[in-house]
Amino acid sequence: MQIRIFSNENDLAAAAADIFETTIAAKPDAVLGLATGASPVLTYKELIKRYEAGKISFARVTTFNLDEYCDLPKNDKNSYYTFMQENLFSKIDIDPANVHIEDGNAADFDAEAKAYDAMIEAAGLIDLQLLGIGTNGHIGFNEPADAFSDGTFRVKLTESTIKANSRYFTDSVMPEYALTMGVGSIMRAKKILLIATGAAKAEAICNTVKGPVTPRCPASILQTHPDAILLMDEAAAALL
Ligand code: PGA
Repeated sequence: MQIRIFSNENDLAAAAADIFETTIAAKPDAVLGLATGASPVLTYKELIKRYEAGKISFARVTTFNLDEYCDLPKNDKNSYYTFMQENLFSKIDIDPANVHIEDGNAADFDAEAKAYDAMIEAAGLIDLQLLGIGTNGHIGFNEPADAFSDGTFRVKLTESTIKANSRYFTDSVMPEYALTMGVGSIMRAKKILLIATGAAKAEAICNTVKGPVTPRCPASILQTHPDAILLMDEAAAALL
């Protein structure tokens, strides 16, 4: 694991955007694994700036998002589909046909999960996977568990995740289930970039970097990935 610590979030976002820019420059039809939540927002802003400046094009890029809530209308203000449209896709030159997010309203969740994994494989696997980390060490919505998950699956969210994310659901009830890429799906990415900021992430980061590799802290598996980079601010790195 490569660890880089930044004293401000803009420098962190610029470093993350540099990694995207390098990946796409080397492979204009790169397959990107994308994340939602607060962590990637500044990085997406930086990517939009670079697109507007003509430094980067997403025209041939394919994307797969990590996760989506179940039983939330696709256009709900809190769906990850909406998040991605608002924070990135509507502002860059990506072909909507190349964008993939799990269908949280699928009639058959298992079939949807299998189809999602098959699409990732058919695309040649993910070249660069962006991750945030939960305060409980989750990646995607892979919550602490007795075993590491493999492919995409439907997960029941833990109380800690519901508590962390229910702040966004001001006028509706937060879903209790989501479809998420599994830990195996994430680990098959050729390069992984995790962003963590703020003191609330310090314990999860400490367990990820210094703790045992255990499904009780799903992000700890990144210790075994050949090309994982952790970008964090000083507050998230405070316990290292
Ligand atoms: P956050 O969430 O970026 O909103 O902190 C990260 C996560 O829960 O994976």
